[in-house]
Amino acid sequence: MQALTDKRILLGVTGGIAAYKAAELVRRLRDVGAEVQVVMTAAAQRFVAPMTFQAVSGRPVRSDLFDPAGEAAMGHIELARWADVILIAPASADFMARLAGGLADDLLATLCLATRAPLALAPAMNQAMWSAPATTANAERLVARGVHLFGPAHGVQACGDSGPGRMVEPGELVERLAGLFGPRDLEGVPVTITAGPTREALDPVRYISNRSSGKMGFALASTAAARGARVRLVAGPVALPTPPGVERIDVESAAAMYEAVLADPGEVFIGCAAVADYRVADVAGTKIKKHADTLMLKLVRNPDILATVAALPNRPLTVGFAAETDRLEDYARTKLTEKRLDLIAANWVGERAGEGGFDSDRNALKVFWPGGELDLGTDSKRGLAGRLLDLIVARRALSQEQP
Ligand code: PMT
Repeated sequence: MQALTDKRILLGVTGGIAAYKAAELVRRLRDVGAEVQVVMTAAAQRFVAPMTFQAVSGRPVRSDLFDPAGEAAMGHIELARWADVILIAPASADFMARLAGGLADDLLATLCLATRAPLALAPAMNQAMWSAPATTANAERLVARGVHLFGPAHGVQACGDSGPGRMVEPGELVERLAGLFGPRDLEGVPVTITAGPTREALDPVRYISNRSSGKMGFALASTAAARGARVRLVAGPVALPTPPGVERIDVESAAAMYEAVLADPGEVFIGCAAVADYRVADVAGTKIKKHADTLMLKLVRNPDILATVAALPNRPLTVGFAAETDRLEDYARTKLTEKRLDLIAANWVGERAGEGGFDSDRNALKVFWPGGELDLGTDSKRGLAGRLLDLIVARRALSQEQP
C-alpha cells in the first residue's frame, strides 16, 4: 500500500460505538507508513479514552479548539494545512449535520472547514438514523461538495438492528484512503459499467429478479472514478449511495438497461449486472388473481447487452462477468469466446461462493482472456475492483499499441 507511505492523515473520531475500531484503523495506517494525527470530539471521548489513540498514533490527541498547549505546538489552521487528507471515522449523524451546515463549533469541525485537503467520511450510526431524510439530505450535500463517503456498510448493529449504518472495516478504509492517492491511469476515459439486478415485471405489482446487491459493480464504478475515469453507472434497483464523481442512470428492466448502455457504451464497458435472461412475454395490465392451482408464465429471451456491445463496429474494450453455481471455469471460458469478450471475471454464486458472491462485501475472482488467465484471489470487492482495473488498463494499453 505504497500510496499511503509518508502521507499525513488527520483522523477525526466522533461519538459512536464504532470509535473503538478507529484505534485499529490508526494501527493499520501506521503499518503502511502513514503519519496519523488523531482529533477527537467531546462525544468520542465518552467512548474511548484519548490515551488509547495517543498510544497507537504516537502523538498527543487534539480535541480542544481553545487548548493553549495544543495551539502553541501546532495551531488549528496549521494542523488543517498539515493534513494530506482528513478522514472522519466513525462519522456520526450529528457530525455530518454540523459539517453539512458549515459549523465550526469544535476543533474537528473547524479543521474540516479550514482544510484544502480531501475530506472523507466513514459514517456509523443506527440504520434508522442513516435512512432519516435529514441524514440523507446531509450526505447528498456533502457528496455534492466533493466529500468522499466511505460506506456505511450493511449488517447487524450494536443496538441489535440490522441494515445500513455499520462503519466500513478498518482494512477497507485503508484501501479506500489509498485510492485517493492512487494512480490516475484512466484519466478522462469514458467507462460504462452495469451493476445490480434487473426486475422483469409480471404485472403492475410483481416481478422476477435475483439476489445481486450491486456492491461489485459500485466498487468498480467508485474505483474507476477515483482513477480519473468518466464513469456512467447503469444501475438496476439497489440500495447503495452513488459513488462520488459517477454519473448514475437508474433502470429496472433488462430492456431499459440495454437502452441506457447502448446510448453510450464508452471506451471501456464492464457488464457486472446480473441481467435477467428472460422476461414475461405478456405483462398483465392489472394484478394477476389466483384462480387455478398452477399458473403458467411464458418467458421470452432478453437481448444480451454484453454480446451486443462486443459486436458493435467500434466496440469498446468489453469486460464481462460470469456468475456460476457449477463448472465456473468452463462456463466462463465459453462466455468469453461466444460473446467475443476481451476479458471475463468469473465468480461463484450460491452455496459454493463461501464468503463471496451476491450481497457480500467480499468476493473471489478469476479472470480469463484469449490466451491467458489470472487468479485475483479473495478480497474485499473494492480491492478486487482495483486489481481488475489494473488488468483492464494493461489490456487497453496493449490494444492501443496494436495497429
Ligand atoms: O451485485 P453483488 O451482490 O455485489 O454480486 C456481484 C455479482 C455476483 C452479481 C457479479 O460479480 C457478477 O458476477 N455479475 C454478473 C452476473 C451474471 O448475470 O452473470 P451471467 O453469467 O448470467 O452473465 C454473463 C455476463 O453477461 C454478465 O457480464 C452479464 O452482465 C451479461 N449479460 C447477461 C444477460 C443479458 N441479457 N445481458 C448481459 O449483458
